Amino acid sequence: MDASSPPDRRTIVATIRDYVEQLREEGMEGLPASASPTPRATPAASAPASIKPDAAPIPSELFSKYPGLEKTSTLDELREFIGDCQRCKLAPRRTNLVFGVGNPNAQLMFVGEGPGADEDARGEPFVGRAGQLLTDIIERGMGISRADVYICNVIKCRPPDNRNPEPDEVAACEPFLFRQIDIVRPRAIVGLGTFAVQAVLKVKIPISKLRGNWQDFRGIRFMPTFHPAYLLRTPGDKRLVWADIQEVMKYLGMPIPRRGGSAS
Ligand code: URA
Repeated sequence: MDASSPPDRRTIVATIRDYVEQLREEGMEGLPASASPTPRATPAASAPASIKPDAAPIPSELFSKYPGLEKTSTLDELREFIGDCQRCKLAPRRTNLVFGVGNPNAQLMFVGEGPGADEDARGEPFVGRAGQLLTDIIERGMGISRADVYICNVIKCRPPDNRNPEPDEVAACEPFLFRQIDIVRPRAIVGLGTFAVQAVLKVKIPISKLRGNWQDFRGIRFMPTFHPAYLLRTPGDKRLVWADIQEVMKYLGMPIPRRGGSAS
């Protein structure tokens, strides 16, 4: 396309989608129907020691949709249970189901929204540009290997044209995420972006209000933060994510690099 020719429809749609996504990350939940104020996030309890993820398994009603799911006790068993999943309308168009990667005994889990094109092609979460930034946050920022944490998404198959996952798709897939969390039993979860955070916590509070405040997911500490794809468009907010990650590191007893090794 030369500079004088008008952009084609796909480019316009992609640009608008990016813009709406950006507004969503910044806290706008769509066009307001009324002028009602957004509810504020409730900060989680401040005492880390009071939260003992080992004490309480995730209630089985979260996976009761699929009989037998609660019996899977390893990630391999869970992956086998999911099989060649045809449980929702995303199945026919996926290349690979993107289950999750990392340390099955990780203390820290990252949960994103769902696979994009790169992830769908490779069958691994967070391997595209946003994934590279997440890897930098983990490796250059936190000073640990990507293989030390566990990384997965709320939904395991790519929505066509990178649209947002729909409620029926989330409902079909989330029992697998909850089972993953129950099997790995991390000490802390970082929720990446509006969609993942709202899907896990079942709240409609915008990420801009939730981020940086510890939340509780069934006895596991849950830190909402911005999605790396948002940071690619808004690099000025990387410092906020780095602040959130430092909170997580403190809770996990990890040394914090002196000059803020935040991924640039
Ligand atoms: N965005 C996500 O939320 N997950 C991925 O795996 C890749 C991009």
